Amino acid sequence: MTTIHCVRRWLMAIAIGVMAVCAQAQAAEEWKPTLGQPGKDVIWLPSPQLLVDKMLDMARVTPADFVMDLGSGDGRTVITAAKRGARALGIEFDPNMVGLSRRNAAAAGVGDKAKFVEADIFETDLSQATVITLFLLPELNMKLRPKLLDMRPGTRIVSNSFDMEDWEADQVADLGCETYCTGFLWIVPAKVQGIWRLDDGNLVLQQKFQKLTGALATESTAAKITAGRMRGNEISFLVGRSQYRGRVEGAVIKGTVATGGSITRWTARRQT
Ligand SMILES: C[S@@+](CC[C@H](N)C(=O)[O-])C[C@H]1O[C@@H](n2cnc3c(N)ncnc32)[C@H](O)[C@@H]1O
Repeated sequence: MTTIHCVRRWLMAIAIGVMAVCAQAQAAEEWKPTLGQPGKDVIWLPSPQLLVDKMLDMARVTPADFVMDLGSGDGRTVITAAKRGARALGIEFDPNMVGLSRRNAAAAGVGDKAKFVEADIFETDLSQATVITLFLLPELNMKLRPKLLDMRPGTRIVSNSFDMEDWEADQVADLGCETYCTGFLWIVPAKVQGIWRLDDGNLVLQQKFQKLTGALATESTAAKITAGRMRGNEISFLVGRSQYRGRVEGAVIKGTVATGGSITRWTARRQT
């Protein structure tokens, strides 16, 4: 074989290789999702952008947040969070949707903050997220619920259209459009059920998600608490006309109690 033949063969082989790579890239770029296409546990439908914006408003997303969208579809929620300066990660089972999301993020100029992984939401570690976004199904929300309730107190969870049954939302927003227009917000409550020792008595708390009932018993009186509520680590309840507020830090609660015009401090230590 002459040198010219040899060079020709090499050039042809390189050209064929380049054409194959280009064809692959073009096919990936041309791939388009179809409304209602099957997903592993739920089909793909995109959240309306107005609701994405509203859900991120409800969760008060800032650049300090790490947002995870479970079942991230075309990436719109992750990209919108990244545009607000947050780090954001989409978990999506469909590799084509992951590819599309990455291209959408790059086109939106947020490829550095908006990331996507091909994974199953039920096998993903959520513990680093400060905000979780969902557009799944009622039964999938319920399957995730125990894991969500075990997240760091104060983690915000927002869901498009589907609730979490008896874990009532802390806020509901209805945009008034036709379908998929309602956002739900939950704030993971600190776990406070038990007996807490105050300087002058015992605070007994029963907890159902963010709602508290119970009683405050001092040496001379025993009174039921009312309007008891957790918002992340923040606790509030009434004893008669005294408004207790405080912050839970592990086994200690510190705060203030306002009665009429006077404000005093209170501290409680966990007994059980
Ligand atoms: C209704 S779409 C919501 C898309 C996006 N979050 C939004 O609001 O526009 C649900 C997405 O979840 C994906 N999905 C379904 N089951 C999943 C699973 N087990 N793990 C990861 N993604 C899943 C589907 O492929 C689909 O893209």
